[in-house]
Amino acid sequence: MKNVVMGAVLAAGLLSGTAMAADVAAGKAKAAVCAACHGADGVAVIPGYPNLKGQNEQYLVTSIKAYKNKERTGGLAAVMQAQASMLSDEDIANVAAYYASLK
Ligand code: HEC
Repeated sequence: MKNVVMGAVLAAGLLSGTAMAADVAAGKAKAAVCAACHGADGVAVIPGYPNLKGQNEQYLVTSIKAYKNKERTGGLAAVMQAQASMLSDEDIANVAAYYASLK
């Protein structure tokens, strides 16, 4: 019985994973708050802050999750931890797709 339940949970996870293709438009909407520091076009407006424009999508996902999980610390990471804590996994996938799409 336990295996059946686990199987169902795994199957549901896999299905939602494929159904949840990153949404660039939703990412753009979410990125409105990011623009205050990372710029409207993904080029940082504050000296020393990183540009996100055209960055590798998977790198954006893992770095934002690392801030959210407080695995990235030191330097200015605290600033980003606060930002990342407000994003769901879906939001993270969407903003990553958005910034990666900028040329
Ligand atoms: C208040 C300013 C501020 C806001 C708002 C902000 N960030 Fe950041 N972000 C930073 C700073 C500062 C860093 C560098 C942190 C460090 O030293 O690790 C950073 C780093 C990052 C990085 C890592 C870049 C790299 O090259 O490793 C990503 C990705 C990122 N931010 C995404 C976002 C997203 C997406 C949003 C909006 C949801 C956002 N940020 C909002 C200030 C901000």
